[in-house]
Amino acid sequence: MTAKTLTTARLTLRPWQVDDAPAALEIYGHAEVTRWLSPEMDRVPDKAAMRLLLQQWAAENARLPSAAGRWAVERTADGQLIGGAVLLPLPPGEEDLEVGWHLRPDAWGNGYATEATHALAEWAFRHDVNEVFAVVRPGNTRAATTVRNNGMHWVGETTKYFGVELQVFRLRQADLDSAAPPSLRPPGDD
Ligand SMILES: CC(C)(COP(=O)(O)OP(=O)(O)OC[C@H]1O[C@@H](n2cnc3c(N)ncnc32)[C@H](O)[C@@H]1OP(=O)(O)O)[C@@H](O)C(=O)NCCC(=O)NCCS
Repeated sequence: MTAKTLTTARLTLRPWQVDDAPAALEIYGHAEVTRWLSPEMDRVPDKAAMRLLLQQWAAENARLPSAAGRWAVERTADGQLIGGAVLLPLPPGEEDLEVGWHLRPDAWGNGYATEATHALAEWAFRHDVNEVFAVVRPGNTRAATTVRNNGMHWVGETTKYFGVELQVFRLRQADLDSAAPPSLRPPGDD
């Protein structure tokens, strides 16, 4: 299915378009981003390769479970494409759903991944998904901080997903509620 548009206070998460290729290359052509995504993804070398990849993602969307998807992340205030976000089934069983973020380095440090996580997790939980996972390469301290700041819980280390050592974190509905800023919590939930 096609990923639906999700909005947060500052962000618009929307389906990718092939014309996003130049802006997408600022993300997926950047070694500081893709070094943490391999072996899932290599650095994209040029605009033509980026266009092909965006076409491939669109074709894959049709085969994904309803909660899954790939989103382009736009900063709503200026319309700038600042990153990508995913909810994707993890191999080999395709039963666990991974939440992931890929932001342009000049957009790091603003809480955008945190903000996107809430929207993506709420979307997943509305689609009969009970838990989402983040898989983080050892040494990726920014991602590890992001998942912990979002109330995700440490599960352990495994090589089962991509054959490389990954740290696994899990987020359930209750974790999301307790990590939400006070303004987003249900009344009386102190
Ligand atoms: C992982 C990644 C998404 C984290 O980006 P990020 O901007 O650090 O993530 P967050 O949204 O959690 O932002 C936290 C930072 O924003 C700051 N911040 C500013 N305003 C904020 C707000 N309103 N809310 C929360 N944090 C805010 C925090 O203080 C923190 O800053 P610090 O890192 O200087 O301490 C980014 O580094 C990235 O794209 N890396 C490459 C790809 C990657 O590794 N993806 C993850 C694979 S598992």
